[in-house]
Amino acid sequence: MRFDILTIFPQFIDGNPYFEHSIIGRAIDKKLITVKAHDIRKYSKDKHKKVDDTPYGGGAGMVMACQPIFDAVKAVKKKNKGPVIFLTPHGATLTHSKVLKLAKLKNMILLCGRYEGIDQRIRDTIIDEEISIGDYVLTGGELPAMILIDAVTRQLPGVLHDDTSALEDSFTKKLNGKKEYPHYTRPEVFKKMSVPKVLLSGNHAKIEEWRQSHLSS
Ligand SMILES: C[S@@+](CC[C@H](N)C(=O)[O-])C[C@H]1O[C@@H](n2cnc3c(N)ncnc32)[C@H](O)[C@@H]1O
Repeated sequence: MRFDILTIFPQFIDGNPYFEHSIIGRAIDKKLITVKAHDIRKYSKDKHKKVDDTPYGGGAGMVMACQPIFDAVKAVKKKNKGPVIFLTPHGATLTHSKVLKLAKLKNMILLCGRYEGIDQRIRDTIIDEEISIGDYVLTGGELPAMILIDAVTRQLPGVLHDDTSALEDSFTKKLNGKKEYPHYTRPEVFKKMSVPKVLLSGNHAKIEEWRQSHLSS
């Protein structure tokens, strides 16, 4: 799967250790995903490479302008035919079922806003979908884009050591959409806190029963 990220801070993506290590780093090494950042500023026709301007109607902050984003999207679409997704608090909240739908795609273009956001005419025309990562406001769309990439990537075949493990995580069908049971590891007793006896019993039926009864909604 290919993710193209449009941002005015490509350095938050390119060379970010998050994309070089652990599960996501290995997915990139194994070419299961490609993550490419594109600097929106490079597409600005302004002689100072400005990408923002003051809002019509007045008010605080700056608004990301149409031209650089229209041109950046047009250029990136030559290589990536997937939907253009704008990360924004206005979007539908990213959920497990949405992540599964996104994981079926081959490509997507992720647009990261900054400042007060982007000119409404971009949203009205070249954005296919808007996604929020929750009801709070961040300074930019780069972290939301990375969160989306992480959540989608771990659903792709070959990414996790054991493909079945993503099928048994919180929110999955196997757990009836609930959150996973508690986990314990060695030692058996830590600071007088013991591991539940049933987990040491070796009785798989009983362990499964205990786990099912400890799912949370
Ligand atoms: C400071 S925010 C703009 C907030 C906007 N003025 C508002 O009140 O909705 C700048 C950018 O960060 C990104 N962003 C902030 N919070 C987000 C969230 N919860 N989910 C996804 N993207 C978010 C968006 O790309 C947004 O355009």
